[in-house]
Amino acid sequence: MKRIFESASLGKLTLENRLIRSATREGLADAAGHMPEQLYQVYEGLAKGGVGAIISGFTSVADDDHYFGGMARLSNDGLIAEHKRLTDICHAKNRRVLVQLALGEYNRFSQGEYHRNIDIDEMSEADLAAVIRLFVDAARRAEKAGYDGVQIHAAHNFFLSRFISPAYNHRSDAYDGSVARRGKIILDILRGVKDAVPGLHVTMKINCSDFMPGGLTPAESLEICQLCADAGMDSIEVSGNGTSIVGIRAGVNEAYFKEFALALADMVSIPIILVGGHRSLESMESVLNEGKIEFLSLSRPLVREPALPSRWQRGDTAPSKCVSCNMCYQTPGHKCVV
Ligand SMILES: Cc1cc2nc3c(=O)[nH]c(=O)nc-3n(C[C@H](O)[C@H](O)[C@H](O)COP(=O)(O)O)c2cc1C
Repeated sequence: MKRIFESASLGKLTLENRLIRSATREGLADAAGHMPEQLYQVYEGLAKGGVGAIISGFTSVADDDHYFGGMARLSNDGLIAEHKRLTDICHAKNRRVLVQLALGEYNRFSQGEYHRNIDIDEMSEADLAAVIRLFVDAARRAEKAGYDGVQIHAAHNFFLSRFISPAYNHRSDAYDGSVARRGKIILDILRGVKDAVPGLHVTMKINCSDFMPGGLTPAESLEICQLCADAGMDSIEVSGNGTSIVGIRAGVNEAYFKEFALALADMVSIPIILVGGHRSLESMESVLNEGKIEFLSLSRPLVREPALPSRWQRGDTAPSKCVSCNMCYQTPGHKCVV
């Protein structure tokens, strides 16, 4: 029987327990990606709070990606020292820390002209090679900054999520409409990262479904996950569009992407992490023991109570105090309003 509070292996990383902080952006960095004091305090709180590993908020691989305001970045060497401070904070409390590498928009500067948020169908092979390079270079910086791993953000309508989705990708080349070809960009990034920094854990966050007409289906997502597992991905975190469902109630409607994650965990032999709506210890231990899911990740409950894992471990097992109102999305620094 799997328990939440037992040590477990995420690839070569040993975590103190099976709880992971799912990527949660703070939106606090300046336009160049510099991180303020307040952001380090968020990580101090999480590291003290007892979660087994922390995945950073999305961190852009490109200097000129302004898909969201306040994006952290690992897009140039000048930012490495600031990230090193963040990893030191986590390591001081014996927490593993991974950086979520993301691209929101791809912008091209060529022949003296700047083109913003280029349509996927309009991208040249050179553009795709540039995207792959952005991720690999950021992973190199992640290693220098002391991260234990990187998470490739291929979910939630970010660039890679759009690229693997038939709703956005209508190309007719090596990266075209078939599932395997759409997924090839992730495999190319994975192989590039593994070649450049073999010691880093590489995980990915992917939609189990786009939940939109013509979007990525569960069957297609499973196929891409299988290809990634075969190509050396170390773990996969299952999410989906409609990411942060409101009105979650303990014992009623938790773990809303569970069915897909159970099917995926049966198919592949790498650890599967499930995010989305975990609120009570009872439901979480039952999810862990229904099948082969190895880790559960949390976002809003740790916005509400960064020390929730420690509270549970001390014996106060009341469910998360998060009421899933999603008001944290609206506040500066994404704080809980309750
Ligand atoms: C304020 C906020 C910021 C988020 N930022 C990110 C992010 O940077 N990257 C990401 O993949 N998901 C992000 N998410 C989604 C969460 O990681 C998670 O997938 C979702 O909220 C469901 O899990 P939960 O029920 O534990 O909150 C964010 C969610 C919230 C509430």
